[in-house]
Amino acid sequence: MTNFLITGGAGFIGSNFIRYFLNKYKNYKIINLDNLTYAGNVNNLINIEDNYRYKFIKGSINDINLVKKILETGVNCIINFAAESHVDRSINNSQIFVKTNILGTQVLLNEAKNYNVDKFIQISTDEVYGSLGEKGLFTEKSPVNPSSPYSASKASADFLALSYYKSFGLPAVITRCTNNYGPYQFPEKLIPLMIIKAINNEYLPVYGNGENIRDWIHVVDHCRAVDAVIHHGKVGEIYNIGAINEKSNLEVVKFILNILKKSYSLINFIEDRPGHDIRYAIDNKKIVKHLGWSPKYEFEKGLKDTVDWYVENKHWWEIAYRKLYMKQNNSSR
Ligand SMILES: NC(=O)c1ccc[n+]([C@@H]2O[C@H](COP(=O)([O-])OP(=O)(O)OC[C@H]3O[C@@H](n4cnc5c(N)ncnc54)[C@H](O)[C@@H]3O)[C@@H](O)[C@H]2O)c1
Repeated sequence: MTNFLITGGAGFIGSNFIRYFLNKYKNYKIINLDNLTYAGNVNNLINIEDNYRYKFIKGSINDINLVKKILETGVNCIINFAAESHVDRSINNSQIFVKTNILGTQVLLNEAKNYNVDKFIQISTDEVYGSLGEKGLFTEKSPVNPSSPYSASKASADFLALSYYKSFGLPAVITRCTNNYGPYQFPEKLIPLMIIKAINNEYLPVYGNGENIRDWIHVVDHCRAVDAVIHHGKVGEIYNIGAINEKSNLEVVKFILNILKKSYSLINFIEDRPGHDIRYAIDNKKIVKHLGWSPKYEFEKGLKDTVDWYVENKHWWEIAYRKLYMKQNNSSR
């Protein structure tokens, strides 16, 4: 496999993945199909746009003719990062989530079948499992029990991918990762939002009492895991990806304030999100044991690097942040 179609490659994880993948494999070619929604930003890949092994196409995964045209060029592997990804937006209006995350994935799966691609990686999320109690971890066998329209749309796409494997033998594999953090994450998500608000000395809005627990992974560790799944993952399988790193939202916010040497008095508890899952945590034994992957980033170091990146790259987030948050005060995942 040397010719890859990466969808949603102008977003947070997709752009980190493209940079990682092009650097690591010197004979791979990548087409990045992204329709540049509010979350897509070509500046995420500005340093690689002249690479002859990389091509950007502005367009939607819902556009069947465009997807066919791209696959005709001889794509061997599709990695589907494209999605509407913000839970709060899905609660406000779920229509685009169904269109992109379900119908768009169906277009890709169907054309991957028609063009006999060698592998299809569906990038999913731990959120499809719903909320955990105080104890236990989600394994790949845990029941799917989504709470938000976002996670319901991702769960539907997972079932579609599995059905294409079972019904047509499409070589599909699903990854379900925990919460990512790192550079180039859009300012509406928890960690960049809190960093930016702290830099600006604004109040940091924290849902409920801040006790909701998420399992955090550095985006580069996620990219390394997807790399392992592309090359060694068994078709028809699901792989959970997580770094065994549970933190409450309040702990994360306090870490950020400590790194930036700001006062906890900036924390502002706000009304909880409807259907807010209490805890996510992933059992990563399957990918560790079968694919030899393990996370490299230690959370405190990864978070410090991320804070430094936002401090040094104000030009990257300032305009988007201003547009989003001048009149609102929302927080995230
Ligand atoms: N961020 C996380 O913590 C996390 C965790 C687990 C899984 N995921 C999954 O990883 C994937 C990427 O997440 P992200 O955080 O980078 O999201 P993001 O919102 O930063 O990026 C999504 C990208 O998809 C593009 N896109 C949206 N609709 C499209 C369409 N119809 N056609 C082509 N491109 C389209 C957007 O323009 C954007 O560039 C998503 O599938 C998400 O569900 C994210």
